[in-house]
Amino acid sequence: MKKASFLLVMGILSINTFGQKTIDQKVSELLSQMTLNEKVGQLVQYSGFEYATGPQNSNSVTVLEEIKQGRVGSMLNVAGGEETRNFQKLALQSRLKIPLLFGQDVIHGYRTTFPVNLGQAASWDLGLIEQSERIAATEASAYGIHWTFAPMVDIARDPRWGRVMEGAGEDTYLGTQIGLARIKGFQGKGLGNLDAIMACAKHFAAYGAAVGGRDYNSVDMSLRQLNETYLPPFKAASAAGVATFMNSFNDINGIPATANKYILRDLLKGSWDYQGFVVSDWGSIGEMIPHGYAKDMKEAAEKAILAGSDMDMESRAYMAELPKLVQEGKVDVRVIDDAVKRILVKKFEMGLFDDPYRYSNEKRQKEQTDNLENRKFGRMFGSKSIVLLKNQNNILPLSRSTKTVALIGPFGKEKIANHGFWSIAFKDDNQRIVSQFDGIKNQLDKSSVLLYAKGSNVDDQDTSMFAEAIETAKKADVVIMTLGEGHAMSGEAKSRSNLHFSGVQEDLLKEIAKTGKPIVLLINAGRPLMFDWAADYIPGIMYTWWLGTEAGNSIADVLFGIVNPGGKLPMTFPRTEGQIPIYYNHYNTGRPAKNNTDRNYVSAYIDLDNDPKFPFGYGLSYTQFKYADMNLSSTNLTGNQKLNININVSNIGNYDGEEVVQLYIRDLFGKVIRPIKELKGFQKVFIKKGETKEVNFILTPEDLKFYDDELNFDWESGEFDIMVGTNSKDVQTKRVNWVK
Ligand code: NOJ
Repeated sequence: MKKASFLLVMGILSINTFGQKTIDQKVSELLSQMTLNEKVGQLVQYSGFEYATGPQNSNSVTVLEEIKQGRVGSMLNVAGGEETRNFQKLALQSRLKIPLLFGQDVIHGYRTTFPVNLGQAASWDLGLIEQSERIAATEASAYGIHWTFAPMVDIARDPRWGRVMEGAGEDTYLGTQIGLARIKGFQGKGLGNLDAIMACAKHFAAYGAAVGGRDYNSVDMSLRQLNETYLPPFKAASAAGVATFMNSFNDINGIPATANKYILRDLLKGSWDYQGFVVSDWGSIGEMIPHGYAKDMKEAAEKAILAGSDMDMESRAYMAELPKLVQEGKVDVRVIDDAVKRILVKKFEMGLFDDPYRYSNEKRQKEQTDNLENRKFGRMFGSKSIVLLKNQNNILPLSRSTKTVALIGPFGKEKIANHGFWSIAFKDDNQRIVSQFDGIKNQLDKSSVLLYAKGSNVDDQDTSMFAEAIETAKKADVVIMTLGEGHAMSGEAKSRSNLHFSGVQEDLLKEIAKTGKPIVLLINAGRPLMFDWAADYIPGIMYTWWLGTEAGNSIADVLFGIVNPGGKLPMTFPRTEGQIPIYYNHYNTGRPAKNNTDRNYVSAYIDLDNDPKFPFGYGLSYTQFKYADMNLSSTNLTGNQKLNININVSNIGNYDGEEVVQLYIRDLFGKVIRPIKELKGFQKVFIKKGETKEVNFILTPEDLKFYDDELNFDWESGEFDIMVGTNSKDVQTKRVNWVK
């Protein structure tokens, strides 16, 4: 198109059909009235004073004053109708009356908390995940919140990293689908609707690959690996219109993500053409000084803004340094303008210029304070997130008329722990949480007895409660043990080197096992824990994560068979820490180990098996599913043909149930080596007992593409294994030849 006609078309597009100004025009007009300080003010974000989620530097009095002067664009951790209204009033005293954006970590629910995100991922249920974020957005927006710092779409293969609880696990495909579902849930029918909040794809990028699983640590990896494994969920989020991105704390190959031009300018704002804005992580601009990448705040601010980080969360670098940097000619004012525009666009889209108080609505807040429908959903979602790991001799489900049940373990009567890590806003409000004891009690027949003994604390050496627990177990027909890690033992800054049950919990379990009573073990955790002994000797094991407000009811629903569990692990569960990092889609190596016995000069440990305790995608049901042989539409394909894969799955057990049918491929040879398996599709199907369902997948050459060593993204002719199964280990395989 010629330049003149292009400008004409753009001109017409920027005035809508009613002759009103478009957002772009309004933003440009506003920008033209702004002083440099007011512009930089829009790039500044401070935390409220009640719920700091990081080390705080701000002095409350100066922050309030700065808001009035138009030197603050956003606040985080300010919530509630009244509080947001009060802050907004201050912003409206500023010269240009630009409203504030209120952000908060709405991570696994808000007023109603849902399973921690890794638990949600175990449901493999994109519809439920989206719905849970719809609810979270409805509740949060009713509390005046405009913006959540979620979803975290960091792929993580190391359970030592505490933040695995906040993501979707180890797999890029699953993580991408879940990230998209969450964004859809948060942003609903679009920004501007009262129940929609802005989402934030974080942490950009590769934060989950911190060396040694230690939070905030460095990341060193090939660009090929970065593009293939860690970036796809972000790229998809950008394409789906996620409102914002957040930097990560780590460096990538020596350059902190906050000032990483490659990921921010070349990819995100370059080839991905992202239109939203990027917020730093808490203090991450200033942290480039200890990183050794900036000698002072001034250099940190310069590097961050030039790389494309638009908003400064809590570093205080932008306000202090950017005006000077512009005046000195080190930062072009157009760079600032671009960042300001991106932020103002979002404020317009949220409708804040029409009514800055539209989300601060006490009536809506009250309606969402204890919404029974949301709790009902949370109960169901919790039960769908549980993974049944072992069910020897069908010890589960338990009968509701079991005469005497003993609940033993430090989590039995716990309330607050069920919230999981990110429930900051209501962390002290434990009245509404259903404990495991109460949930089980609710389900047991009135004539049954539920005994309880704590047995031990979560994390100390105190064995003084053992005797009482043993006596309690002896009186019971069945014992439910509830062990694991405390909810504040996984999450941000919660890396652990020892992932076995902490304190004396395993000793307690062994003592109770000696009574000979049948035991069902509930494992409460935000990450894969290691429990080799229990996995071998305890007949019933359910992984219950942290399930949120309705935790006790969700757990009881599965224990007593009201819900048939269908969750599958979104991360590989190692045998012991020595296997970490361990993930299903690894390479074959030149000397792959064939089995666990031949360890001589092959890629193996001399003292530990290679295979994990439980593979990625693993999870049992109270019923059994039988897979027939898969049918392929062809085993010789050319060019852009599609491969249809059909398989019949029958429910041959005694309960209706849900199965997650998983599709993997392996590209046998390539110009760069390919993983032994890659998830390419899954379907969660409900099958009534005695019935069969046909499950269909379609593969296209698009699914065969990969990054080569020069970062070309394409596929190659050759042989591919097509695998379908119930988890990443138990699959059936057929080979196809696919040529370009
Ligand atoms: C630091 C965390 O890394 C980030 O995920 C969170 O959103 C911010 N703090 C704000 O609380």
